[in-house]
Amino acid sequence: MTTPHGAILKDTVPEEERPIVELRGAGKSYGNIRALHGVSLAVHPGKVTCVLGDNGAGKSTLIKIISGLHQHTEGEFLVDDEPVRFTTPREALDRGIATVYQDLATVPLMPVWRNFFLGSEMTKGPWPVRRLDIDRMKRTADEELRNMGIVLDDLEQPIGTLSGGQRQCVAIARAVYFGARVLILDEPTAALGVKQSGVVLKYIAAARDRGLGVIFITHNPHHAYMVGDRFSVLRLGTLELSASRDQVSLEELTNHMAGGAELAALKHELSQVRGVDVEELPEEDELTAPVAGTPEGRA
Ligand SMILES: Nc1ncnc2c1ncn2[C@@H]1O[C@H](COP(=O)(O)OP(=O)(O)OP(=O)(O)O)[C@@H](O)[C@H]1O
Ligand SMILES: [Mg+2]
Repeated sequence: MTTPHGAILKDTVPEEERPIVELRGAGKSYGNIRALHGVSLAVHPGKVTCVLGDNGAGKSTLIKIISGLHQHTEGEFLVDDEPVRFTTPREALDRGIATVYQDLATVPLMPVWRNFFLGSEMTKGPWPVRRLDIDRMKRTADEELRNMGIVLDDLEQPIGTLSGGQRQCVAIARAVYFGARVLILDEPTAALGVKQSGVVLKYIAAARDRGLGVIFITHNPHHAYMVGDRFSVLRLGTLELSASRDQVSLEELTNHMAGGAELAALKHELSQVRGVDVEELPEEDELTAPVAGTPEGRA
């Protein structure tokens, strides 16, 4: 078998084991700031790849490359074994790479079904009397949400009245409906409580079970471990750990997220601050729990 460019594909690799998206030693510099360096990562259909890392580790930079918002300045980025360099998110979307950002691009006052089809409305009738096919959009949105196991009382309600978790779920169902093969989620659980996070994790698993490759960005090793097949931990722009589920335990993952040395340094620093009882500091795993309102969306 050959690609359109004549390269011979490895016939020995079964279709389902070939990554849809792959980075090989990829990196990104903003002027002389090197935000990402030498990162390799593969996203397979039906698998969840978790990208973990502290603030400023390069997580958003990584997904901006894959989602077509920014371009890599070193290494390779491949989709279906073919080197690519997207210049707009539209190009990524055309290759089936959909991104759900934390500040979801929804119109709060519009009904749920309308948001589901935002920018890709269904129409009926011939030009010039073409108009929105409202009934079909409502019916389809309802079916698709149910298919993903998401039951909302009323699709007429403004999407702004849904909880953050529910909105994430609608966005996931939307991406699945519009044919995403790779779904990128940038910290979908960062601002959510325990129960709502659980709901979002459930739909991450549902998207995976439908055969999508999922890239799940998170600060929280517990959330990652609940659904992840592979784990990539970024630190200061480079990969500190890249392991499959059977190669790493939750405890090890947590330790990678908050190295013992850093924790000790933090305790030491805080001990100089009057009124902070460092003995009362939470244990390591609690320190890595998600922080509500994490700064996001830096362009
Ligand atoms: N547009 C930009 N111009 C210059 N530097 C940038 C730009 N975007 C990101 N950076 C720098 O790149 C590094 C990685 O940032 P990035 O946003 O990818 O981190 P992150 O892991 O997503 O962090 P957070 O958890 O806070 O969202 C940071 O040092 C940041 O200051
Ligand atoms: Mg970020």
